[in-house]
Amino acid sequence: MPSPSPAEDLPPFLPPTPAGTARAAELLRAGEVVALPTETVYGLAAHALNEQAVRKVFAIKGRPLIDPLIVHGLDAGFFASLAHFTPAARQLAEACWPGPLTMIVRKTAAVPLLVTAGRDTVALRTPAHPLMRAVLEACQLPLAAPSANPFGYLSPTRAEHVRASFGGRVPWILDGGACALGLESTIVDVSDETAPPRILRPGPITPETLTQILGQLVEIGAPTPLAASNEGLAAPGLLARHYSPRTPLELLEPTQSPVTPPVGERAAWVRLQRPKPADAAPRGVEVFWLSEDGDLAEAARGLYDLLRRLDLAGYEKIWCDCAPESGWGLALNDRLRRAAGRGKP
Ligand code: TXA
Ligand code: MG
Repeated sequence: MPSPSPAEDLPPFLPPTPAGTARAAELLRAGEVVALPTETVYGLAAHALNEQAVRKVFAIKGRPLIDPLIVHGLDAGFFASLAHFTPAARQLAEACWPGPLTMIVRKTAAVPLLVTAGRDTVALRTPAHPLMRAVLEACQLPLAAPSANPFGYLSPTRAEHVRASFGGRVPWILDGGACALGLESTIVDVSDETAPPRILRPGPITPETLTQILGQLVEIGAPTPLAASNEGLAAPGLLARHYSPRTPLELLEPTQSPVTPPVGERAAWVRLQRPKPADAAPRGVEVFWLSEDGDLAEAARGLYDLLRRLDLAGYEKIWCDCAPESGWGLALNDRLRRAAGRGKP
């Protein structure tokens, strides 16, 4: 991990004001990279049709050029010259945008192959965050933006997370406070009219919601098994190890508890709900919880922030409870498995 420059050498965050969003738009138009808040996580944005600007994003993130970026726009009309919408894509845009849904559709020649990593499809999203929308409105550009974290690390849910990872390499960060959702968007592939829609990454918009909107069953998971390499994956972000803290993380099924750490070592135990006073933790294990009452949306909102703090705190190991496999639990478990390095399709 790169070490950030001292905070005092860096410009202050761009403020969440009209002046701040206007400055962000001006920088983006000039081909600079700016970190922007969305309702899911912060993104590292650049003018999607300016290859030099997009190259900077890959370089800053340390992201392999085979991993395509999401293009963000104000609404479906904004993407008219960039992509071909299938009927399912149109229906989902109507029902879910602006919001935490990314759709994979076929691209036009206007989208650089650099953005899509050589694919003939492009990922599109219309974010709901008012500051992100103000920037899109002011710059009138499609913005390519991956999550604003070094490749493979936890996504940022606060402006401070972006600065902690990149220091002076990303001087321009629009400060939108904490992200309202805290986990990355749902990604659904609706590029092929002849195939059922397929969820490539579970997220805030659940399979049930997508099925209900489309009136047809939605498939879940990558079409090929997750592997240690990128080959054959519909989305390289579906790598088995991704979204990971540096501290080893292990998942616990509902009946399991952490193993007592060796003498002299400390471990953290992340619970989804405040434990009852009778639930003792093993010696050397400190307990944290993401929600008082097990509200999974609340747990998702705080997960990355807590894992980042625990990563800095020097524990030898992080244990984390699994969520029930439905609703928000699908996305939470997906990220937790990847953080633990054992994602599954
Ligand atoms: O919530 C989000 O989606 C955030 C905010 C900033 O919008 N963005 C985000 O971007 O999570 P990123 O780049 O970290 O994850 C996007 C995922 C990657 O796993 C990438 O491989 C996949 O989308 N992807 C992009 N284009 C694709 C395509 N044409 N086909 C399949 N997967 C694609
Ligand atoms: Mg990411």
